[in-house]
Amino acid sequence: MTRDPKRWEVGSLFHVADFEVGPPSDPRPWDGGILTGSGRDALRVIARLGRHRRWWVPSYFCQEVVHAIASAGIELRLYPDSPLSAALDLSVIREEPGDAVLVMNYFGLRTADDLVVPNGFRAAIIEDHTHSPTSAWARSSKADFCIASLRKLYPLPDGGAVWSPRGHSLGDLPEVTSTLERGAFRKLSGMLLKRLYLEGHPVTKEEFRPLLESGEHSLLGKAISRVTPLSRATLATFPLEKWNTIQTRNFEALVQQAPEARGFRILVPRSSASTPFSAFCVFDEVEECDRVRKGLIADRIYPSRLWPLDEPVLAGVPELHVQLSRRSFSIPVDMRYQIAEMQRVGARLSQLLGF
Ligand SMILES: Cc1ncc(COP(=O)(O)O)c(C=O)c1O
Repeated sequence: MTRDPKRWEVGSLFHVADFEVGPPSDPRPWDGGILTGSGRDALRVIARLGRHRRWWVPSYFCQEVVHAIASAGIELRLYPDSPLSAALDLSVIREEPGDAVLVMNYFGLRTADDLVVPNGFRAAIIEDHTHSPTSAWARSSKADFCIASLRKLYPLPDGGAVWSPRGHSLGDLPEVTSTLERGAFRKLSGMLLKRLYLEGHPVTKEEFRPLLESGEHSLLGKAISRVTPLSRATLATFPLEKWNTIQTRNFEALVQQAPEARGFRILVPRSSASTPFSAFCVFDEVEECDRVRKGLIADRIYPSRLWPLDEPVLAGVPELHVQLSRRSFSIPVDMRYQIAEMQRVGARLSQLLGF
């Protein structure tokens, strides 16, 4: 794919991306599990088992996902956790029989050793590996259940996964629902048109953005869906280990250009074996974060806010976490980007930071 330099941009939803044939990345952690339409469908597969009626969810988390879990009839409790906490400490949780705890590998920064489960802790563990689905942690997990939204990191219109390292049953295999098929078709239409746009063809943003956005919103239906055959087959072709190497390379290229400064830092993985999902940029001041974000957008670098916590589903999100979500953003470093592009992003970032 040859990109039109006039339409250069970084971030936002995926286009149908090019990639070279790479070494196969088998086995994949979710082999033996179920490929679902979305990450939320993967969580709903666990909810429908009825084994765990009350789930503890991290206070710093995607609120659409919290909403989807609550809508699946699960009673929810919060426990404090955020990307700034190095280890994941479950000791604050007062668990009762039948409880489960959702734990998050934020931005792929953590390792299996960061999950400290207290002695005698009996709640089931559900790990969310969305940000690093093929990490050493995901591969060696001993959790009751693991899930990932595969479409967040890989160029797919739909796709999530649920598996059980402990070998619990996942229930019946869901059908592909017509709701998911329709949503995925709209998404894929937007992804194809975005690719044509990036190549310089006469396609406008107004043509592909509504398709991407409405497709995205209509992926979740009433019924749980299996992944579409298209996404299943495409996923099987992806050289996922090679993409981990590309992400690490891209992350390092960006960080080298925009080193830590007063009032600004990019969170780095806790181990060299971890693969960063994105460059999660944290500022001391909300105003400075807003100023830099606007500067990046003006240069067609589109950071994501992961995640807004201004209107949390559950009361009790610590104010520190609400503030963190306001003074941070995430810049993608995935397989779509070349080193030079990441250097350009890093250089712009450091310019905006005043270097
Ligand atoms: C960490 C995390 N887990 C799960 C999900 C749910 O994935 P999906 O949007 O595919 O339902 C998301 C989506 O934003 C997410 O960010």
